[in-house]
Amino acid sequence: MKKYLFLTGAGISAESGIRTFRDSGGLWEDHKVEDVASPLGFRKDPQKVWKFYKERYHQSLSVEPNPAHYALKKLEDHIGDRFHLITQNVDGLHIRAGSNRVLEMHGSLNRCFCSNCKARYQMQEIDLQADIPICNKCGSQLRPDIVWFGEIPYFLYEIEEHLKKCDVFVVIGTSGTVYPAAGFVMTAKLFGAHTIAINLDRPDNFSFIDEFHQGKSGELIPVYIERIMESG
Ligand code: APR
Ligand code: ZN
Repeated sequence: MKKYLFLTGAGISAESGIRTFRDSGGLWEDHKVEDVASPLGFRKDPQKVWKFYKERYHQSLSVEPNPAHYALKKLEDHIGDRFHLITQNVDGLHIRAGSNRVLEMHGSLNRCFCSNCKARYQMQEIDLQADIPICNKCGSQLRPDIVWFGEIPYFLYEIEEHLKKCDVFVVIGTSGTVYPAAGFVMTAKLFGAHTIAINLDRPDNFSFIDEFHQGKSGELIPVYIERIMESG
């Protein structure tokens, strides 16, 4: 019985109405990464960074998971511990679709933590009216629980273990440009996995992809999941 490992990117949430980063109209067209997605940017202008993430947080609450999120949840229920999901997304839509076995390697818009004492908070616990929310425990500035450029993503050891053990590694809705996530397909292939990409455009790490399905994940994923469930 095959072990399936999935990696998702912004493309899987596009049909829910959430902007991707590098497509036309993407987030990085009208925001400078170094200003809003780097530790230095936060030190320089924490209010600007909080404004960027509060907007994205509130927008993420106003949209719904789409058929691709629900199809992955359905497969998780069907095959249990043979299923693992890594997401680069911070929108929380996999969890809202009911997925439990999901590793949010870039953090989540739904959480923040204290830059001093590291106390962790859910966004709905804090006063988002404040320009820069403050820690209840030590009074320091809170920061979004987002892994910024130059920071180490979450769960890398666990992810490495899954990459070594999976039989099929499926990459969905990601441009394959940002490491370490963009390098996962190479590791999986090195350890013998069959690699599949389901994406609107050809991803940058295409040379490590055995099977490429071009199109919208909201349309292709439910069909692909049904096929896996029939074949076992
Ligand atoms: N269905 C499938 N794929 C889609 C869809 C869709 N409906 N819409 C867009 N795509 C594809 C695009 O073709 C593109 O290859 O999704 C990909 C989105 O790429 P990016 O915008 O680069 O997003 P992502 O790969 O997730 O970015 C990785 O970069 O900025 C950082 O931390 C951020 O997690 C993010 C990381
Ligand atoms: Zn604190």
